[in-house]
Amino acid sequence: MSKIPLFRLWPLVGAVILTGAVPVRAAPDIVIADFEGAGYPPGWTTTGSAFGTGPAHGTLPNQQAVSGYHGSVPVNSYRDGDQAVGTLTSPPFVIRRRYLSLRVGGGHHLTDTRIDLRVGKTVVRTATGDNSERLMPMQWDVSTLQGKTAILRVTDTATGQWGHISMDDLTLTDTKLPDERSRLLGAATAAISAAIPVAEADPRRPGYHYHAPAQWMNDPNGTIFHDGWFHVFYQCNPYGTEWGHMHWGHARSKDLINWEQMPPALWPSRSAGEEHVFSGSLFPRADGTLMAFYTSIGERDPQQWGALPDSSDLTRWHKIPGNPLLTNALHGAEPVAEWRDPFLFSDNRITYMLVGGGLSGRGVVMLYQALNSDLTAWKSLGVVFQHPDAALANVECPNLARIDGKWLLLTSTYGKVETFTGQLDLKARRFITEKRDILMDGSYASQLLHAPDGTVTYLAWMRTEKGSGWNGYLTLPSTLHLTPNGDVVCQPAASLTKLRGQRGSVANRSVPGALDLTKQMPGQISGKSLEIALDISPGTASVITLHLRASADGARSVALRYEVATRTLSVPGRAPAVLPASAGPDLTLHVFLDNGALDVYAAGGLVTLASFLPEIPSGDTGVQISADGGTAVIKSLDLYEMKPAVFDATRFAPKTRH
Ligand code: FRU
Repeated sequence: MSKIPLFRLWPLVGAVILTGAVPVRAAPDIVIADFEGAGYPPGWTTTGSAFGTGPAHGTLPNQQAVSGYHGSVPVNSYRDGDQAVGTLTSPPFVIRRRYLSLRVGGGHHLTDTRIDLRVGKTVVRTATGDNSERLMPMQWDVSTLQGKTAILRVTDTATGQWGHISMDDLTLTDTKLPDERSRLLGAATAAISAAIPVAEADPRRPGYHYHAPAQWMNDPNGTIFHDGWFHVFYQCNPYGTEWGHMHWGHARSKDLINWEQMPPALWPSRSAGEEHVFSGSLFPRADGTLMAFYTSIGERDPQQWGALPDSSDLTRWHKIPGNPLLTNALHGAEPVAEWRDPFLFSDNRITYMLVGGGLSGRGVVMLYQALNSDLTAWKSLGVVFQHPDAALANVECPNLARIDGKWLLLTSTYGKVETFTGQLDLKARRFITEKRDILMDGSYASQLLHAPDGTVTYLAWMRTEKGSGWNGYLTLPSTLHLTPNGDVVCQPAASLTKLRGQRGSVANRSVPGALDLTKQMPGQISGKSLEIALDISPGTASVITLHLRASADGARSVALRYEVATRTLSVPGRAPAVLPASAGPDLTLHVFLDNGALDVYAAGGLVTLASFLPEIPSGDTGVQISADGGTAVIKSLDLYEMKPAVFDATRFAPKTRH
């Protein structure tokens, strides 16, 4: 029955509720059950097998990791896996506080995995999980049920996927949970903060590529220059190193090299049916205020939603009351499949939105026009671009920019960022492709960032592996240009030169065999954080290889291998790339090594590749260049030790946030 354990009594000084001018002490919480014992508390009864004979010790066999509970044991109906069914029922208790708090996780099935509060035979409140093994705090307002006797019943009659439910900490309280935004962002910040020490200990973690403070990240979102800062938001899962629970993380920078990690910005509004805040962009409204546009994912068709900042540093946001902004109903009879990732641009004072998706089994980019200056009313203009590959069912993350007199459309399609250079005919509502290519092979889900000086910077997600405390980072900021014939040229941002440390150079030097480049440096180098700019004439050589992270005996290395006859460049982890003949006979490479991250800009930026390297023995730090089959001539080679960038996390989790 009800008990008030002493350790749960609130310190009376802190727990004061102000009612008008008269301070009233909050009544202490009443813990109905914290499930810390070996068996269920006295009076709790079960049917079936799902709940076993007592609370579970966290995760059960074959279950994904359960988290978000207090102490060591929550209620968990995964006892015999998803197929087990049963109920768990509390003894009667009297409702003597305004709220009933609990933590809930597991399957989202409104009838089959649920928690009911019953008064007599009537179910007065009900809850379900969120298809997540993380228990989230929730609360029912039971103020109208004061003095009533109730029971709580947990039901698991689901036998398929997510056929289980978990619960902890059933407490009557007078303290209202903070609002959903504060609660979810607070929990997200805490979960990311807890993973930071683990993430920082990983030797493969890049030192100067942007990465989240910890945990999973994917697409950059909402990149913008605003009030003197470059802002980058990004898809993040605060609760693990795999995709899930999509929020928008946030960082800002003056130079795209050194970063301030900001607190997570956007959260899934669960009370409004959102499960994920997917990718999107930021765009200024006519009055200059910025607005965020993103795809809202829930148990319904995707919708495009809007949010507005409450602070000029873009740390605090609210979802606009008019959501959803766009629904699939705009498309009439045929809904767009996988409809997501809004991108905004304006032309001739009209604001447009692109959204990726699939129509009749083909990957498409849809075009919309804003009908008001608040950007809250939209009409569909139909398909503006159909991906040329018939086998491709949908397009993700479209971005568009006018560069060097042409339009450049970027799409993310099955693991690649593709570029389409051409004309955008807004009257005919058609993008006309003149050239198609791949950009920064290995990167995905791009965003473009426009600087005040007109520079257009490419940023995209680099996938890693289920890391230790982290997963994913962004490509190096890279500037984009078009050649007169419409080829995309991608080069490392000039600001990267800030990180250059000691330098070694070689010029006009013949290389028959191998040259140890570390010997060209004035001092010792780490061999793990480097920039190399190389222009080499193949001469009589048939193969030229740049060896990074080479072992002392030369048996192992990360080899960037160029086959002269076929002009083929092979970079670990990437498909071989043929360098265009238009780049001339020399091999020009601009290479960045940043612990596990490798970026290669070849042929003056016409071919770009990025790769995340497998684990390499820490003693393998050699750097060599070799020519096989003849003699090559190094026209110029500069090797720099690169210093780590600053990732300042002091604003990430300030002590008093909300
Ligand atoms: C691309 C993508 C987007 C989506 C987001 C979800 O990587 O699939 O289409 O909005 O990731 O995290």
